[in-house]
Amino acid sequence: MEHLVIEGGRRLEGKVAIDGAKNAALPACVASLLTDEPLILHHIPDLRDVTTVLATVSSLGKRVIPRGETVEIARERPLVEKPEARYVEQMRASFLVLGPLLARLGRAIVPLPGGCTIGRRPVDFHLQGLQAMGARVEEATDAVSLRAEKIRGAEIELPYPSVGATEHLIMTAALAEGETRIKNPAREPEVMDLIELLRKMGAEIEVETHAIRVAGKDRLRGAEHTIIPDRLEAGTYLLAGAITGGDVAVHRVVPEHLRAFLDVLREAGLSFSAGDDWVRLSGASRPGPVRVVTAPYPGFPTDLQPPLVAALSLGRGESRIDEKVFDRRFDYVPSLNRMGARIEIRGDTLEIRGVAALTGTTVAAPDIRAGAALVLAGLAARGRTTVYQMEKIERGYSAMDEKLRVLGGQVERSA
Ligand code: EPZ
Repeated sequence: MEHLVIEGGRRLEGKVAIDGAKNAALPACVASLLTDEPLILHHIPDLRDVTTVLATVSSLGKRVIPRGETVEIARERPLVEKPEARYVEQMRASFLVLGPLLARLGRAIVPLPGGCTIGRRPVDFHLQGLQAMGARVEEATDAVSLRAEKIRGAEIELPYPSVGATEHLIMTAALAEGETRIKNPAREPEVMDLIELLRKMGAEIEVETHAIRVAGKDRLRGAEHTIIPDRLEAGTYLLAGAITGGDVAVHRVVPEHLRAFLDVLREAGLSFSAGDDWVRLSGASRPGPVRVVTAPYPGFPTDLQPPLVAALSLGRGESRIDEKVFDRRFDYVPSLNRMGARIEIRGDTLEIRGVAALTGTTVAAPDIRAGAALVLAGLAARGRTTVYQMEKIERGYSAMDEKLRVLGGQVERSA
């Protein structure tokens, strides 16, 4: 089993170049299904989840031509209506192929995405939206089969600003007949990046105050696009600097995408500086007590909750975090407590009492961001920490061991 062995206690110092955003790259790859012309995507991160979504679109008829940080997705053979199940089960972002296939073929069958450790991860908002656009759902037990003579524009109100549902419905609406309005949409930078790509493909999309409006087109063309930087990877490495009392700068980032996160760091008494494409956290003292509630963008991102909690476990005073986006995202807390943290789980709230030191031990990554939190704790802990299930972390972080070594961490990855 891939694992990371970390000798803790070293201050991290230096610069990290941030990759393209996983959560923008995944829907961008799916958008290739909306056209028969080539899509050229730059700044694609080298991640397991990206490999999985590229395998999914090739199983549907695309030819994928990787060129370093660029990937070209072109037509190889006519689209088929069913991806290979093994890819969809591995990663829920592949579920987004449903709407585009429906719009192109009038028929699509996709296995229901598995849940994961951060909750049930239902897809009811996706299916309700597709039905509003004319899809007939023949939901089987473990697969969703849809038919639609015609995908028509519709008025859709999302009960919650779901990122995936917003992306799924925008892509489908782009080829619908007529106009679609999606009310209460997600506005994450990754959603806006997908909209930019779709506009380059010829889609007509307006982002209004309370809705996203899409005027459907008969067809979309190929395009070239550079994926935005990964704000979640950037936040994680800044916290690696903070938790080790170091001095870390992240480059190739959009500071605006990190605003809520940086506001919390400032509130915790951590000092940082920022330029147009970099943020540097230096002279990190132990973070002071903060109260944070995770929320849809532009609120504090749920994906940085676990890494922040790791840093706060060595902070001053008592912090409180309310996790309002997912119904379960605390699976890493018992491992942190085994390392000496003092964190209480009360419903969807964590109460963190800062301690002076953590002690290394053996832990396993429950999921991408929880795993990152355990790596951060290991970097600051006394002695050795071994983090198992590295393959889960590598779904969202490329070359984490190399990047941490460049920053001065004593980190070895072994299979
Ligand atoms: C995206 O997941 C991200 N993944 C997640 O990042 C991120 O945590 C999440 O958005 C929130 O920002 C990708 O973009 C690939 P949601 P998604 O639909 O789209 C409920 C990471 O580590 N919901 O916004 O699945 C859902 O249960 C991952 O990079 C429904 O009830 O998130 C959750 O409580 C983890 N019904 C809430 O909405 C639905 O049909 C937000 O989920 C859809 C969602």
